[in-house]
Amino acid sequence: MEISGKTRVCGIFGDPVEHSLSPTMHNAAFKELDLDFVYLAFRVKKEGLNAAISGAKKLGIHGLNITMPLKQPVVKYLDKVNSTAKSIGAVNTILNLHGKFVGYNSDGIGALKALRENNVSIRRKSVLLLGAGGAGRAIAFQLAQEAKRLVILNRSIDKAKALAKVLHKKLNKKVTGNLLSPTLIKRKLENVDVLINATSVGMYPKAKRSLVDPDWLRPDLCVMDIIYNPLETKLANDARSAGAKVVSGIEMLVQQGAVSFEIWTKQKAPIQTMKQAVLKELSKLEGAC
Ligand code: ATR
Repeated sequence: MEISGKTRVCGIFGDPVEHSLSPTMHNAAFKELDLDFVYLAFRVKKEGLNAAISGAKKLGIHGLNITMPLKQPVVKYLDKVNSTAKSIGAVNTILNLHGKFVGYNSDGIGALKALRENNVSIRRKSVLLLGAGGAGRAIAFQLAQEAKRLVILNRSIDKAKALAKVLHKKLNKKVTGNLLSPTLIKRKLENVDVLINATSVGMYPKAKRSLVDPDWLRPDLCVMDIIYNPLETKLANDARSAGAKVVSGIEMLVQQGAVSFEIWTKQKAPIQTMKQAVLKELSKLEGAC
């Protein structure tokens, strides 16, 4: 990669951010399309976010990703926030548009694209979503628009109920929210076509955990886990063994990254290159763990 006086700078703000896969993914994509762009990771703490955003604007940084714990706090520092991100209440992508910072959220659309690319249609389907945190919320907003029915279960019941209420009111769709418990997961699973895990249960280093008993899984189910470390979670592995269709977390990671990439470059993202770069990086991490 050659850095010139004209190189456009993109990056990610978060804390921690050292292990982010986004620099690898986006730099591989810039290289593939021979774009004079570079992507860097910046550790930014919540209390320094306002100054970091002002500084980025003054420096003419072209595009940013925002990750934990800054996705919600960043909203108030932006010049404009698109309607999807505004509804979700969180931003994970920023574009510098003629000196104004505009916020977007690519998590929900990334999840939907990951399903679509794997030939899973949500239209007229019933979906069970586990988790109403940042990612769960973004996915719920996107999927509720297409699905016939959405059931949201969350450990903190208030978040599930509040999200369901907002979606029901906004879209006039069948959306319900309840407590995430083994009894309810088992019961709700019986009547859905798609199961999505948007909780952090099963993530490295507690990779042996799953909220779903393998006996509740079946071949006519599609299971998506948004966790990508490990590459195949226990839930995904159990689902595969049960004969269910599985969409792994890496698919959503790459698809949401591709949406951000296209916002910044106006070019079609080289999905396969991005995926290969991320897989290579993850295999190094797995080797180190
Ligand atoms: P992200 O931005 O990745 O979605 P998050 O907003 O912290 O991260 O959300 C994490 C999700 O995992 C939440 O739904 C959280 O439930 P709470 O809202 O009750 O915190 C869920 N989660 C984390 N640990 C969990 C556990 N041990 N059992 C069930 N759900 C859990």
